[in-house]
Amino acid sequence: MGMNTSEIQKRRTFAIISHPDAGKTTLTEKFLLFGGAIQTAGAVKSNKIKKSATSDFMEIEKQRGISVATSVMGFEYKGIKVNILDTPGHKDFAEDTYRTLSAVDSVILVIDCVKGVEEQTERLMEVCRMRNTPVIIFINKLDREGKDPFDLLDELEEKLNIHVRPLSWPISQGQTFKGVYNLFQSSLNLFSPSKSQRADDIMRMESLSDPILDQKVGEKFASELRENIDLIEGVYEPFESSTYLDGLLAPVFFGSAINNFGIQELLDTFIQIAPSPTTREAVERTVQAEEPRFSGFVFKIHANLDPNHRDRIAFLRVCSGKFERNTFYHHVRQNKKLRFANPTSFMANEKNLLEEAYPGDVVGLYDSGNFKIGDTLTEGESLHFKGIPSFSPEIFREIINKDPFKSKQLEKGVQQLSEEGVAQLFIQQPGNRKIIGTVGELQFDVIKFRLEHEYTAKCDFMFMNLFKACWISCDDKKKLAEFILRKGNNIATDKDGNHVFLAESAWSLKMAGEAFPDIKFHFTSEYREDTVVDIYAVR
Ligand code: G4P
Repeated sequence: MGMNTSEIQKRRTFAIISHPDAGKTTLTEKFLLFGGAIQTAGAVKSNKIKKSATSDFMEIEKQRGISVATSVMGFEYKGIKVNILDTPGHKDFAEDTYRTLSAVDSVILVIDCVKGVEEQTERLMEVCRMRNTPVIIFINKLDREGKDPFDLLDELEEKLNIHVRPLSWPISQGQTFKGVYNLFQSSLNLFSPSKSQRADDIMRMESLSDPILDQKVGEKFASELRENIDLIEGVYEPFESSTYLDGLLAPVFFGSAINNFGIQELLDTFIQIAPSPTTREAVERTVQAEEPRFSGFVFKIHANLDPNHRDRIAFLRVCSGKFERNTFYHHVRQNKKLRFANPTSFMANEKNLLEEAYPGDVVGLYDSGNFKIGDTLTEGESLHFKGIPSFSPEIFREIINKDPFKSKQLEKGVQQLSEEGVAQLFIQQPGNRKIIGTVGELQFDVIKFRLEHEYTAKCDFMFMNLFKACWISCDDKKKLAEFILRKGNNIATDKDGNHVFLAESAWSLKMAGEAFPDIKFHFTSEYREDTVVDIYAVR
């Protein structure tokens, strides 16, 4: 044990998540500036797909190109190797985001102080809570008139089902925003709007009664701050990093990403408290990052849309040991040996040949079709990492072949696209009907386009009025079999052959639950007791 300890301890692998427009791209860019990975603001292209461009394929393709380049942004900061895993902002790509979250050790959640907790924030946090991922919250856009900070904290606790603890506190906001007080370091950070300036104007104070506070922010705001801090220290428990690491408590920071304000204190605290790679749960056993033998899993696959370059890139997160170039590894699902001559690391728009990688690192593997999402590579052991579940799609369409001479191509294309995770494929009998499930409309355009251009297959989609796909379980196998038989018209199988119940509405799910009280319904493919759907609560 321990030969990689120092490499592991210097790594922080995380994702920045937010509802679109809260400031994820801006914050990412500021982090990269601090890390010296880019020199100027504006160097990181937004991976946002413009709202108007729902069926503009050039736009999608362009965006996909950008998102490969920015899939992982690595840089060194104060001796720490920081790996930021990018997540698509567009809600139609939420599945991609959920999978990427399986490959990180912590997240920073960005909230817009004007809008508060938005819909996508809640969903992303549900996924983090399922895995007990440690979360730091950054409340952004303090240069705008937003909600009252105390109200924001209440809203966070209520809607995100997590305890919060402010580690900084804003002094006014909007037009009269003065800066933030850092409770962690008892320092005052004064706001001066600047898009390029890198260092904050930070001043340490002996105590809050220091008259320098009144001088700098004015008596009114100074006394307001003193009152607020009193209140906070009275109401909130002191910050405990172990509670944060267990995913139960989220420290909160305030700032303004566009103005580069509060970013350095966020980054400095982040590298101090965020976890380095530790353990990962596999079906077989718990895997320690410090084990000498290499293991890792594929969490994302990126296909080249150019039909002349059909290669794909599989993104592998290293979980233990050391990955080395040109070394044979065991592909667990296919039970075969593979080695990689050109593994790639991604450093903010730069691709580099990678010789070795440690736990927490992400390796890009050129792939001609060997991988599907969730695949494991090891030095020989049979391991299957947990935590890469599928979630119930929201939109369902049956795929109809439009060219009978191309049914083989269609079959292959649909299979491969689902292995890449573009959408979920469910098969229904009789007749091998293919049902595509997605979280957004955009995927159907992508599938149609890619089937035509990469597989020369033509298809149509038939609308299906379905509410959710529920994975089902029951302690009594006979009862499960009976349910599957009785509900045949609403049963399909997922990519791994598991049965799902296709519920037409919340009401029909409720009815099925009442008629078959022993059957448990789950909205995720990897379920534990606590993922059982409360059929009376679904809307
Ligand atoms: P996202 O990746 O989470 O979707 O958000 P992004 O960083 O692209 O930011 C969304 C918008 O919010 C951008 O404005 C950005 O400039 C702005 N923004 C980010 N941080 C702050 C902040 O601290 N204060 C204020 N007032 N605005 C902020 P945009 O007009 O949509 O784009 P752009 O034309 O400025 O690029």
